[in-house]
Amino acid sequence: MRPLDGRRILLVVSGGIAAYKSAILLRRLTASGAQVDVVMTSAAQKLVGAATFEALSGRTVFSDLWERPLAHIELGRDADLAVVAPATANILGRMAMGLADDMATSTLLAAACPILVCPAMNVRMWDQPATRESIERLAARGIHVLEPAHGELAEGEVGVGRLEEPEVILAHIGRLLETASPLAGRKVIVTAGPTRSPIDPVRFVGNRSSGRMGWALASSAWRRGAEVLLVAGPTELKPPYGPAVVRVEESREMLEVLSRELPDAYALLMTAAVSDFLVAEPAAHKIKKELAGGLDLRLERGPDILAETKELRARHAVVTLGFALETDAPVENATRKLQAKGMDMVALNVAGREGTGLEAEMNQVTIIDVAGAIEELPLLPKEEVADRLLDRLEERLRG
Ligand code: C5P
Repeated sequence: MRPLDGRRILLVVSGGIAAYKSAILLRRLTASGAQVDVVMTSAAQKLVGAATFEALSGRTVFSDLWERPLAHIELGRDADLAVVAPATANILGRMAMGLADDMATSTLLAAACPILVCPAMNVRMWDQPATRESIERLAARGIHVLEPAHGELAEGEVGVGRLEEPEVILAHIGRLLETASPLAGRKVIVTAGPTRSPIDPVRFVGNRSSGRMGWALASSAWRRGAEVLLVAGPTELKPPYGPAVVRVEESREMLEVLSRELPDAYALLMTAAVSDFLVAEPAAHKIKKELAGGLDLRLERGPDILAETKELRARHAVVTLGFALETDAPVENATRKLQAKGMDMVALNVAGREGTGLEAEMNQVTIIDVAGAIEELPLLPKEEVADRLLDRLEERLRG
């Protein structure tokens, strides 16, 4: 199932240069399963043709209020969510005043669903007291505002005013629609990536982990309305949109952050590949390579974070999902781990399968839950694995 299957979105495009980005947003919305009705202002049609939006939505694009005199009422009534992207200073002002002087504003005034506006304009127009007032009035009425980003603007200037990227708008749409999730409004901690143990100030012992699985879970939980804290080891990935991020390097730091953050958390999704071994005596200064006879490293066991937080999690009833990578008797071993470490659900990876697990884009997991239910998922992109895992977790929480 795709995240927006069965959802009806009303996309209102006003006349900003960023209107071309709305076509990409529309593409992403339909790819996510949404049925999208598009309304364009006449200014928007001077920038991008209605035919583009008609082709991408597979539906009639509305612009003229008089073409079908009741269309604005129907579109407003049937939508689950309306998004105005780009929202020019002009349409924001008209909405703020409650005008219904064209198809776009009339439909928005008739809409009974949540509305998200995504302003885009020149920085000086954005900074105008008049624009600020429009935004404040809309926000006070419960209209959601996704503030524009800082960056290069159409005229070559740099400042705040860029339309947010389509993925960011899409994430917000998902979050606004997902208020029914048991995760909505609750604190969810996701750990991701590897941990490192220093040998000296420049070298370390680490493990192969890209952080992608944790990133995907953090984004998916955020889209479902959770307040997400991503506790991440060193990775190349840029922070996902939405979750708060705390960076750590060593397993002990990860344990410290969790010990502090777990008491008011609702769920812990433990995807981090925590290194089990630490360098026993890290050097304070860079070890010289001229060292006679090479270098012997003694490794010792590091903290098992799930084991060490077991009591704390039990005391605060933190729902816990962990991952396990197994080679032999995988289901038995993963089930034993689930019980020993006090988890509610474990996602089992079988080691040595090509193109899955650590560092890969795809993953193939088997979900085992504390009640003994076992479900083997097919090989899927990690984003989809994340969605399936959270769907399953939500089912448990509802049940
Ligand atoms: O025992 P194993 O490493 O297979 O357990 C996997 C689960 O335990 C994962 O969720 C992982 O994040 C967590 N783990 C941990 N502390 C470790 C190693 C793994 O919490 N030192």
